[in-house]
Amino acid sequence: MRLIDKIRQKKEGLAVYDEFYGELVYPKLEGLLKNRMLFKGREVITWSFNDYLGYQCDQRVIEAETAFVSMFGAGYPAGSRLLTGNTEYHEKLEDEIAQLVGKPTMLVNLGYAGIMSTIQSLVDRNDTVIYDQEVHACLVDGARLHLGKRRSFRHNDIEHLEAQLKASKSALGGTLVLVDGVYSMRGDCAALSAIIELKKRYEFTLLVDDAHGWLTFSNQGSVGDLMKEVDIYIATFAKAAATVGGFIAADKDIIQHLKYNVRSQVFGRTLQLVNVYSVLFKLDLIRDEGDNRRNTLWSNTKKLQTGLQSIGLNIGDTTSPITPVYFDCPEEVSAEIIQTLRYEYGIFCSCVTYPVIPKGRFILRLIVTALHTDDDIKQTLKAFSYVKERLSRNVELS
Ligand SMILES: Cc1ncc(COP(=O)(O)O)c(C=O)c1O
Repeated sequence: MRLIDKIRQKKEGLAVYDEFYGELVYPKLEGLLKNRMLFKGREVITWSFNDYLGYQCDQRVIEAETAFVSMFGAGYPAGSRLLTGNTEYHEKLEDEIAQLVGKPTMLVNLGYAGIMSTIQSLVDRNDTVIYDQEVHACLVDGARLHLGKRRSFRHNDIEHLEAQLKASKSALGGTLVLVDGVYSMRGDCAALSAIIELKKRYEFTLLVDDAHGWLTFSNQGSVGDLMKEVDIYIATFAKAAATVGGFIAADKDIIQHLKYNVRSQVFGRTLQLVNVYSVLFKLDLIRDEGDNRRNTLWSNTKKLQTGLQSIGLNIGDTTSPITPVYFDCPEEVSAEIIQTLRYEYGIFCSCVTYPVIPKGRFILRLIVTALHTDDDIKQTLKAFSYVKERLSRNVELS
């Protein structure tokens, strides 16, 4: 078969969602994106943005970014960081983040590409990469680029990780263990203390992708005081910092190695100056505002999550503002629930269904931010009471 024909016939994985274009997938966003936004001209409460601290459409941020773009344009500078993409702002941001996390840092132009090729640059064919089975796709892809052995362990299962470490012992190569600080679907955290404890008995290098943890939990992310035990700490600006890009933090000599070996950075365009400036500006705001926003984020998280649990809904084992609500019900009922939530109750949240998870299940995933109000939470809990009631009706009928 011709490859091009095979591709034309392919309809698998996420492509099956195409029939929900403009709804569940590729919904068209309108206007400013805060705790509420416009969807198809109607105001909805938004639970779908990783804008944990609520800075994305903050008027002060928009004005600062606009003033900056009016000086430099949005596409400055033009080359890779190594050759023609470095500025005093890039270095200033690296210094500021280094102060916050307590390790030397290097910026990357995109979280996904930066993380993926950092992994590739750390290992050679004699080494083994071991990853938690629920790490983000960019870590899995980074492991796939690795030419040596790859192993995985069941999510947060320390005994299984230990078995994989035992099996990886080799005189020729070393071992790199990959985990997420906060798991983006379940919202739970890596069992870091237990993983670090294993370092006493096994030799390995630990890489933590803390995209959802950095600035959300603390300036050292979800890792906190364990930062010194983490060999490579990576976070993106795409979550709490609400823009594009990210950084890697590690010992000075490791950063020196990465500066010349992370291929997506050496051969890709540098992080654009407006994004660098945007993060610098937000770090200033965080310094001025202290813990206010973070405290509001966590108190909102508590209100929403205890509210959902008191309705009798299952939010799994989340320990972060990521709030997955798990349901068991037939596909046609889940479709009806999603429509009612969106169009009758004005609740906009992400939905995960088959084929991403098994048939007969679905997950509504709510991301709490510091911008959500008590009224947003109250209205949302009312809507989820309807969901609970609709599902019990379904159980009675079956
Ligand atoms: C855990 C995690 N790591 C990495 C990324 C990729 O980051 P970016 O969006 O900056 O490419 C994401 C984004 O969804 C993520 O959730």
